[in-house]
Amino acid sequence: MRKLFVFILSVLFVSTLSLAQDFEYIGAAKCKMCHNKPATGAQYNKWSEASHAKAFETLKGEKAMAYAKEKGIADPSKEAKCLKCHSTFHAIDADLNISLKEEEGVSCETCHGPGSRYKSMSIMKDHDKSVANGLIVPDEALCKTCHKPEGNDFYKPFVYEEALKKIAHPNPAAN
Ligand code: HEC
Ligand code: HEC
Ligand code: HEC
Ligand code: HEC
Repeated sequence: MRKLFVFILSVLFVSTLSLAQDFEYIGAAKCKMCHNKPATGAQYNKWSEASHAKAFETLKGEKAMAYAKEKGIADPSKEAKCLKCHSTFHAIDADLNISLKEEEGVSCETCHGPGSRYKSMSIMKDHDKSVANGLIVPDEALCKTCHKPEGNDFYKPFVYEEALKKIAHPNPAAN
């Protein structure tokens, strides 16, 4: 009896895991197809012109190189310690990546969840269905997985409400 119970539990566990693994990363170019019209907020352009989209590039810049030299890091754009906050591509499980690119920096799906299953129009229009298919509603705790002083010598005090305004990309047609 007990063995059967353990068996059922492990089947449940494995099937939950494989369900979760169905949510895969598709990259910002896919979101752009539907989220770049001025009338609904041009989210793609807002993101691509701001700093999250450039976070990977930053690791190749002068400031990063000078800092790396001081710390004995050969190339910050290849250094796991830096990439985990500056690059969605490097932060995620490579097996779950369909078409997200390295140069995207901190991409849409870091904050909104992997889009392979919520990306279709019929699901996206329905908030609850989107959440059931992997959409994440970002909150302060999510931001603070990166906006924290530990491991980030460039840390600036993080005030959630202020920071939200700086990255805002609302849909004026919704709400
Ligand atoms: C086939 C078109 C389409 C694609 C592709 C698409 N979306 Fe959407 N999305 C929509 C529509 C339509 C809505 C509902 C209206 C709105 O809020 O813009 C929506 C809503 C959203 C919302 C608000 C959802 C809510 O209920 O709070 C987020 C966040 C979002 N999309 C992110 C993304 C991201 C990130 C991607 C890429 C991984 C993506 N979308 C791809 C069409 C799409
Ligand atoms: C995966 C890590 C990560 C997450 C999660 C994240 N950020 Fe960031 N954020 C960064 C990095 C890295 C930069 C610096 C990018 C650069 O300049 O290259 C940044 C920069 C910013 C900036 C610009 C800072 C400045 O002083 O110019 C704002 C504002 C910001 N983030 C707000 C947010 C908010 C709000 C959230 C949550 C909704 C969030 N971030 C989630 C990594 C992250
Ligand atoms: C814990 C997450 C995290 C880690 C790890 C991290 N960074 Fe950052 N980095 C950020 C955030 C967030 C910002 C934006 C500043 C802020 O708001 O704190 C940033 C900003 C920067 C900037 C821009 C500074 C400026 O003012 O222009 C550089 C350069 C940088 N990081 C380089 C690095 C390097 C090199 C490493 C690895 C040695 C690294 N970062 C590791 C999160 C991180
Ligand atoms: C650093 C985190 C972060 C990144 C990166 C990011 N977003 Fe968002 N996004 C947010 C937050 C926070 C909100 C506001 C959620 C709320 O109002 O509760 C939001 C809201 C949205 C909405 C809903 C707008 C509305 O008013 O209904 C859409 C659509 C959206 N994002 C699409 C995108 C797309 C597409 C990308 C990439 C091109 C992207 N986001 C990148 C954090 C992010």
